[in-house]
Amino acid sequence: MPKRLDNTVKMRWAHVPRLMALLWKVGRRELTVVAALALISGLTPIAQIAALARFIDSAVPLMKSSAPVASALPWLALLVVTHLFGHLVLRLSIWIQDNAQEALKARLQERLLEKAARLPLASFETPAYYNLLQQAQKALHEHLLTLLGSLMEVAPSTISVLGLLVYAAAGSPWFPLLLMLGTVPAVILRVRLMRTMFLVEREQLPAERSLSYIEDLLVSRPAAAEIKLFALQSHLMGRRLQLYDSLAETRITLESDRVKQGLRADFFQYLSFGAVLIGVLSRLAHGRITIGQCAGNISAILEFQRSLVTLFWRIAVVDNDTRYIADLFAYLDLEETSAAPKTTDGEDAVTKSSDKRPVPEICFENVSMRYPGSETNVLTEINLTIRPGERIALVGENGAGKTTLCKLLLGLYEPTSGRILVDGEASTGVSALRGRGAAVFQEFMRYEVTVRENIGFGEISALDDGARIRAAAARSGVDATIDRLPEGYDTILGKSFDENGRDLSGGEWQKLAVARAYFREADVLVLDEPTSALDAKAEVVIYRQFEEISAGKSVLLVSHRLGCTKLADRIVVLEQGRIVEQGTYSELIAQDGVFARMYAMQAQWYV
Ligand SMILES: Nc1ncnc2c1ncn2[C@@H]1O[C@H](COP(=O)(O)OP(=O)(O)O)[C@@H](O)[C@H]1O
Ligand SMILES: [Mg+2]
Repeated sequence: MPKRLDNTVKMRWAHVPRLMALLWKVGRRELTVVAALALISGLTPIAQIAALARFIDSAVPLMKSSAPVASALPWLALLVVTHLFGHLVLRLSIWIQDNAQEALKARLQERLLEKAARLPLASFETPAYYNLLQQAQKALHEHLLTLLGSLMEVAPSTISVLGLLVYAAAGSPWFPLLLMLGTVPAVILRVRLMRTMFLVEREQLPAERSLSYIEDLLVSRPAAAEIKLFALQSHLMGRRLQLYDSLAETRITLESDRVKQGLRADFFQYLSFGAVLIGVLSRLAHGRITIGQCAGNISAILEFQRSLVTLFWRIAVVDNDTRYIADLFAYLDLEETSAAPKTTDGEDAVTKSSDKRPVPEICFENVSMRYPGSETNVLTEINLTIRPGERIALVGENGAGKTTLCKLLLGLYEPTSGRILVDGEASTGVSALRGRGAAVFQEFMRYEVTVRENIGFGEISALDDGARIRAAAARSGVDATIDRLPEGYDTILGKSFDENGRDLSGGEWQKLAVARAYFREADVLVLDEPTSALDAKAEVVIYRQFEEISAGKSVLLVSHRLGCTKLADRIVVLEQGRIVEQGTYSELIAQDGVFARMYAMQAQWYV
């Protein structure tokens, strides 16, 4: 197995103090109480065994003589009380621990979600990101609590083991030694098995992700229509089964190994137990101990071995879980964008829209762009200055790089080489536009929330401004659709969450996305094929408003409807990631180049 999959023990254990520090932060009081309870619960087994020995010794005479039963009663009471007390302490500490651990888990879950917002968009482009995310989530949901639970048990288990060691060694120092030896195979075995499990899980993760993808396809709404129509179900089921079988096979083999080797380890453990019992028996036979002490000894031996196994087990679980927790921290420590927006803990890094500043000039200087994991440039040496308030139409074939250029402009990606300057300063991601960039993306979002929120998300601080929301809806022409919805702006869209949820047509969703972009008081507006799903009438509504909407803003408009490029101050033609022509509409037509040819071809269809 590759070594990098399994960090060194030292590196892994370094996460434990970090976790404890976080736990201390969220549950200081709980942790103190749990520590005190740990001490008590570590000592209770010894008290229980001592009470048992006394009880038996006080009970034995009852068989022969006419000793009063009452003489054994105080020991009986003590025996019951020590057991009861042990249970109470255990329950109490579990309850308190659970509270503290849940609080930590909730906090880490929050940090995990916040983290995504601070990562550069390019992070989301690699399978490595999704693998790590899945690992981090798995660590959070499956390993955090077992790690903390086991860690908390280490102290009481150690106290029990030490106390019982003294007790068991009182019989003979060989007893604990033999018992310890007997547990060694079990410990080694478990540690090895856990490591194998970890490595296997790690290897299987990509296949597991493919499996959940197919399972999602089979049950989710977006794919349902095509799966029915193209009769894809049995093909997908077949692929699913293949993946499932390959995953299950390894797991089943591992599981049967575990059982077989476990039985072998048990054998050694009980062999040592038997040997020590013989020792105890011989001490009884020689009259060196009473029958009560004999019972106490046996109980102590059993308890010692159990505690020892538990202690080793706890340590092994913590050790193993640190492998997973390493993933959680690796995710939380991923490199962020240079000027990441702060989240719940801090202030918004984005300036409020009321902050009046002139529209910035944006300048692409020799910008080239290549997507992560790809060998070829999507954009090559782009030099383009968008002057304040300028309206640029970007045209080009599918795959020419228009969408990529839009996203670079908005600071969503960093160029592979070259610079993007905003008012002469190197861009620092989305915040370079000071919260004054807005866009209708080609792949716009359909939020399954209310209509109001679908528009209001464009400027979240103005979500309650009903008049402004209605104005944005009117500009994009979606207002008539909204008026027909049963609860108007409060209608929930999508059908996954609300019985009365409504769905919209593709074009209506797009108009809503346009309204969302218009809702923001933007300096820089990017419209990436904003009318691709609209009918001719709706498209006219959008472009008729173009003058008004673009007033006082820089606009980058991508459209395949070349007629609308007349609205722009300048047309930029992209071909295979390079700017091949630019100029006004009439200049480009006169030039009779790429644009003129594209225009002529499109015009054929409209005569
Ligand atoms: N997220 C991505 N990761 C890798 N390659 C991409 C990604 N998005 C687009 N591409 C590639 O970049 C090229 C340009 O894409 P895009 O900018 O979307 O073009 P356009 O908007 O002009 O159709 C395409 O050939 C596509 O294969
Ligand atoms: Mg595109």
